[in-house]
Amino acid sequence: MGMAVRPIVVWPDPRLREETREVVEITDEIQTLYKDLCETMVAYQGIGIASPQIGVPVKMFLIDALVALGDENLPPVAFINPEVLGTSDELEKCDEGCLSFPGIYVPIERPVRARVRAMGLNGEIFELEGEGLLARAIQHENDHLTGKLMVDFVGPLKKRMIKRKLEREAELDDVPLAGA
Ligand code: NI
Repeated sequence: MGMAVRPIVVWPDPRLREETREVVEITDEIQTLYKDLCETMVAYQGIGIASPQIGVPVKMFLIDALVALGDENLPPVAFINPEVLGTSDELEKCDEGCLSFPGIYVPIERPVRARVRAMGLNGEIFELEGEGLLARAIQHENDHLTGKLMVDFVGPLKKRMIKRKLEREAELDDVPLAGA
């Protein structure tokens, strides 16, 4: 079975809030999920992606290898059943984007450093500590697995603005192109 770019689930789709299940073993299904996440992340030019974003409620996310390991020649790193072990007291506010909120950037304050433990695609447990963008990506993607989203960091007014903007774009997408 070949890999495929899957449609991105866009907020406020309830699938982004669904409870995710643990991966018990690395099956062919999990390998295919990994490949689909890779293809989709690359197609949409993300630096990270979580399974619920393609409608699969499984505890796995990917981070681009340049961000995760400083090596652009490696494939995206899989974090399976991840657990954030600790974060720094030091915080930093940065604009954050998300494939499930196309075109939206929100300033979010998060710890500057984060340490994560996860299972890799080979079934081995590993730990990784990140700073700056990597720490932010770890926390952002890990949030997806617990149903937490960017809009949960903003007030009701800003949340409504984001909702309107995404609805307007969804309507535009539905307009059929002449002759297409
Ligand atoms: Ni996201």
